[in-house]
Amino acid sequence: MRTYVITGGTDGMGRGLALGLLDRGDRVIAVASGAPKGRRLLAEAERIGAADRAVFVRADLSTLAGTRAALEEIATVTGSVDGVVFGAQRFRPRREETEDGFEFTFALAYLSRYVLGHGLVAALERAEAPVIVNIAGPGGLPGTVHWEDLQLHEGYRGRRAAMQSSRCNDLLGVDFPRRHPGARTRYVLYNPGFVRTSMADPLPRHQRILTKALASVFAQPVDKAVPPIVGLLDRPPAEPVTAFMRGRPLPLKGRDFDPGRARRLDEVTSRLLRETGASPAPPR
Ligand SMILES: NC(=O)c1ccc[n+]([C@@H]2O[C@H](COP(=O)([O-])OP(=O)(O)OC[C@H]3O[C@@H](n4cnc5c(N)ncnc54)[C@H](OP(=O)(O)O)[C@@H]3O)[C@@H](O)[C@H]2O)c1
Repeated sequence: MRTYVITGGTDGMGRGLALGLLDRGDRVIAVASGAPKGRRLLAEAERIGAADRAVFVRADLSTLAGTRAALEEIATVTGSVDGVVFGAQRFRPRREETEDGFEFTFALAYLSRYVLGHGLVAALERAEAPVIVNIAGPGGLPGTVHWEDLQLHEGYRGRRAAMQSSRCNDLLGVDFPRRHPGARTRYVLYNPGFVRTSMADPLPRHQRILTKALASVFAQPVDKAVPPIVGLLDRPPAEPVTAFMRGRPLPLKGRDFDPGRARRLDEVTSRLLRETGASPAPPR
């Protein structure tokens, strides 16, 4: 039995993936913040005969306390993790700050993946063919890392924050082998394209209606988006880090995947984590 940790495993692609893996006999630890969706996932797991292999960890991954509590809870369930899939997200049309003082999207969509990914390496390395699949937007909409204003105090827009977090995740993946030399864990940056999920729910009314209408025509359903991700979990690429736009490999070239910028972001992130004083940055 293989064990997978899926953040955002109670909705959208994460839920589709969780149920698919449970259905074929794997164990799934789904991490998300809302109890009702967690209960629905567990009820569905029971219906397909996988109740004993489904775990719901309720944690608010926009906070460092929530992220670290999730790591601790995962460690009580298993010492070995075959795959981690990052899918937790929540669009924020207006700028919000978390209890740690970070801009919400930076915290949820990037920082939690930084802490969880590095924090789960030891458990991943105990598995046979370990892999992290970070579902974000490599090779997608343009966007940049706002080095002088990472927390987007000036000129906040939800889309700008989402694109920045995506670029940060590109760099997080690129830097992973440097942080864990010799590790067998493969890091995959994955852009699923437009998928019909709950992504549009937090948008302001007009934008929500428009996005859902576009999704009904142009977006893939979850059951079509999930199989390529399962393929990556089953057959991790040979290279330490790779990026894909759906099935198409992306060259790790240009600013988005620049190793120097990746190292710079790691240093900045590590410093930010130390400055919170909540607890030390993940082990190096
Ligand atoms: N859908 C697309 O078209 C698309 C395109 C490109 C990339 N992506 C990426 O694909 C991934 C999955 O997206 P999706 O559209 O499938 O997502 P989704 O349907 O919106 O589901 C998001 C999941 O994240 C959880 N979540 C939200 N806030 C959280 C928090 N504070 N702490 C912990 N969990 C939280 C949600 O559960 P709770 O609300 O209960 O916490 C839910 O399980 C994301 O990383 C997204 O950026 C999606």
